[in-house]
Amino acid sequence: MKHKTIIEPFRIKSIEQITITTEEERVEYLKEAHNNLFLLDADKVIIDLLTDSGTSAMSANQWAGIMRGDESYAGARSWKRMKEAIVSLTTYDNVIPTHQGRAGESILYTQIGGKGKVFLSNTHFDTTRANIEYSGAMAIDCITEEGKKPSLIHPFKGNMDIEQLEDNILKYGAENIGAVILTVTNNSGGGQPVSMHNAREVKRICDKYGVLYILDCCRIAENAYFIAEREVGFEDYTYRDIAKEMFSLADGAVMSAKKDALVNMGGFIALKDKKIADSCINTLIIKEGFVTYGGLSGRDMEAIAIGLDEVFDKDYLHYRIRSTTYLGDKLIELGVPVMRPIGGHAVYIDAKEFYNHIPVDQFPGQSLACDLYVKGGIRGCEIGSVMFGKRDEKGKLIPAPMELVRLAIPRRVYTQSHIDYVIETFEEIIAEKSQSKGMRITYEPEFLRHFTAHFERV
Ligand code: F0G
Repeated sequence: MKHKTIIEPFRIKSIEQITITTEEERVEYLKEAHNNLFLLDADKVIIDLLTDSGTSAMSANQWAGIMRGDESYAGARSWKRMKEAIVSLTTYDNVIPTHQGRAGESILYTQIGGKGKVFLSNTHFDTTRANIEYSGAMAIDCITEEGKKPSLIHPFKGNMDIEQLEDNILKYGAENIGAVILTVTNNSGGGQPVSMHNAREVKRICDKYGVLYILDCCRIAENAYFIAEREVGFEDYTYRDIAKEMFSLADGAVMSAKKDALVNMGGFIALKDKKIADSCINTLIIKEGFVTYGGLSGRDMEAIAIGLDEVFDKDYLHYRIRSTTYLGDKLIELGVPVMRPIGGHAVYIDAKEFYNHIPVDQFPGQSLACDLYVKGGIRGCEIGSVMFGKRDEKGKLIPAPMELVRLAIPRRVYTQSHIDYVIETFEEIIAEKSQSKGMRITYEPEFLRHFTAHFERV
C-alpha cells in the first residue's frame, strides 16, 4: 500500500518541555516585551518559528559525535572529520572553519571586497550585504522579474537574472567585481530555489569575464530537493550528487552550518583558490581562532561532519520540504495570502494584503506577528518596514517593498500536530481580522531597529 500521509522519518528519544500559556498571560508577556517578539523570553513561546537557523534538533548520531569531539587546540581529529566531509561534498581543498555564517562572510568579503568593489547576487542576505558594505564595497541584487512577484507560480523564483548580471559586470568593469554570490535557496527572496541551469549560466558569465563565483550554500540540500523534483534531467540523481554538481560549478562557498548542516552553531568558507584562502587565514587567526577550529569546539565540528551527511537523506528531505508545503497549502486553503510557490524553510505571509485595513506606516506585519503570539503563542518574524523601512529627513517612513511575516520551520523539531495548531490559530486570526489594529514605534535605535524597538497599538 502507498500511504498518503508523510510521517516524520524519526522517533523522539529526548524531549524538550513546552510551557503552555493562556491568552491572558500572553497579553501580559507581550506588553512587558513592548510588542517586540525579539524581546520575549523563549520559554514564553509555544511554537517558535522565528528562524530555522541554529534551531535544528540533532540526531542520536550527532549527540554521540558530541561525546567523541576532540578539543585539541591544533590538529584535532574532529577538525579532520569536518574538513573531509566538506572537501568530499564541495571538492574544494581549502576549508576554513568559522563560528557561523556571518563570520565567514566577514573574513572573505573583507579580503576580496573594499572600496570600489562590487558584489552581485540573486539576493544578498542581510548579513551578507552588511559585511560587503562594511568593507566599503557595494552589493547589488539581480533577481528575476518572476522572483519579485509574491503570488506568481514559477519553479525557480530564486534564480539570478543573467542579463542584469552581465550588464552590471560591463557597467562596473570585470576587474571591480569582488564576486558573484549565488544564494541557494534564496532566503531573502522567499526561500525560493535556484535551478542548475541558472547556476550553469552564472558560471558561463563568470568564466567569460574572469569573475570569482561564490555559493552561499547554507540551504543547498533543500535546493537540491527542488531541482530533483522540478528540473528535467535530474530525476535519477541523488540529492547529494545534485549538490556536488552545483559546487563543481563555483569557485568557492560560504556556509552557515546552522541551517543544512543540522547543528546549532557553526560555519565555514571553502575555496578552490589557495591564495585567497591563505589571505583569509590571517584574519581567521586574529578574529576567530586557529586554522583547525576557527570559532568552534571540537564537538561542534564533529556534529557538522555528521549533519552534512544526514541532511541528504532522501526521507528526511522529502519530509522537510513537504512539511513546509503542508503549512503553506493549508494557509492558502484558508485564503491567507502567502508567497508562492512555498519555499524550502519557511512560509511567508503577505501582511499588507492580509491586513489591508492597516496602513503600511502602521506596520501590518508587526501587528500580525503580535496577533499570532497572543492567539497561539506562535513566534514569527516581521520582514517588512520594521526590518527594512527607512526614514526621510522629516522622519516619515519610506516603506520596504513588501510587508511579510516569516514562519520559519526549525529542522526535525515540530511534528504535524504542532503545525496543525498553527493552522488552527490562523482560523481564529481570520475570524477577527478586521479588528486588528496597527502599531506605532515608541522607541527605536539608530541601527537594526527590529531587534530592540518598542511598539504600542494604535
Ligand atoms: N546567508 C543566508 C542565506 C542566511 O540565511 C544566513 C542566516 C546567513 C547567511 C548568515 O548566517 O546566521 O550563521 O551568521 N540566516 C538566519 C535567518 C539568521 O534567520 O534566516 P549566520
